[in-house]
Amino acid sequence: MKVKKCLIAVMLCGVFLLIFGGCGRQRQADPEKIQVGVACYNQSDIFLGELVSCLKQQFEELEHSGVEITVMVRDAAGSQRAQDDQVQELIDMNCNVLCVNLVDRADPSEIIDLARENDVPIIFFNREPVAEDMMQWEKLYYVGAKAQQSGEMQGELAAEAIAKDGQADRNRDGKIQYVVLEGEPGHQDAIIRTESAADTLKSKGVVLEKLGSGIANWDRAQAQNRMQQLIGQYPNQIEMVLANNDAMALGAIDAYEKLNYTEAALPVFFGIDGTQAGLEAVIDGKVAATVYNDKEGQARAIGKLAVAAVTGSGMEELEFENEKYIYLPYQKVTEENVREFLY
Ligand code: GAL
Ligand code: CA
Repeated sequence: MKVKKCLIAVMLCGVFLLIFGGCGRQRQADPEKIQVGVACYNQSDIFLGELVSCLKQQFEELEHSGVEITVMVRDAAGSQRAQDDQVQELIDMNCNVLCVNLVDRADPSEIIDLARENDVPIIFFNREPVAEDMMQWEKLYYVGAKAQQSGEMQGELAAEAIAKDGQADRNRDGKIQYVVLEGEPGHQDAIIRTESAADTLKSKGVVLEKLGSGIANWDRAQAQNRMQQLIGQYPNQIEMVLANNDAMALGAIDAYEKLNYTEAALPVFFGIDGTQAGLEAVIDGKVAATVYNDKEGQARAIGKLAVAAVTGSGMEELEFENEKYIYLPYQKVTEENVREFLY
């Protein structure tokens, strides 16, 4: 008899749990109201800042088309700890979808656990978690671009520019002496861009001699610093600067400008991103070419995916790779087509 009572109690408990939200806290009932929480690794990063502006604009446009949306943005300023707390806070504020630009792309577990416990889907963007972490839960997505493609395009652009410009090999030794300015160590867009740009140049028949490299964490001022050191080590020997992004290409140019180098003594500079300042530098002929990191396309994909993840409709309009990844293509930017990219 006792056993039977116990069994009934357990069953009742089960029914209660099923009705009142299973193992997680109960989410807000109204699925049409989209509350987006955006968590950024560091908004002082130029490209990231521009991407987040696009994202806000995208959500505003969706709102004009009749979807009820509120957006809350948090900036972790480079601390994963801070970001974990911000995600908790966004969930406490009843966000029903999260857009997360991880600080440490290798450390998303705490955020994933929080989201799963509360059944809030996550769209990671720009900083790609490793594949195993993406498998932790079915409501995890990624929107970004393929690092390899941007490196290849940078390499192709550099090979074309060198072929066109008889002066690129300034010391006429048949080789291009170059340096690389690299983004954050461990970021998918740093190491892969560096390697694929150089491999592509070599495959196009350009003979390279790497003089050195410097890590400048995507940052213009740090790049200026690193470049000053490299110029000090190799005065007048550097013929090409491959930068993992535009901000660092511009920092390298700053270093030369500070040292009053004449134009004829400058190396050729290549960037990636097509930020506002990067595109202007292409127009001015300071940066030879860049590769457009399609922030508008990424923002559009994140926006549509956020709506689809909350409402359950519109998923079929999105083009996924491996069911959870959306990659937007990069595009080459030279002085010939740069104006098409200025908005
Ligand atoms: C890259 C971009 C860099 C930097 C980085 C941040 O895609 O090229 O400029 O913004 O993302 O994660
Ligand atoms: Ca040379």
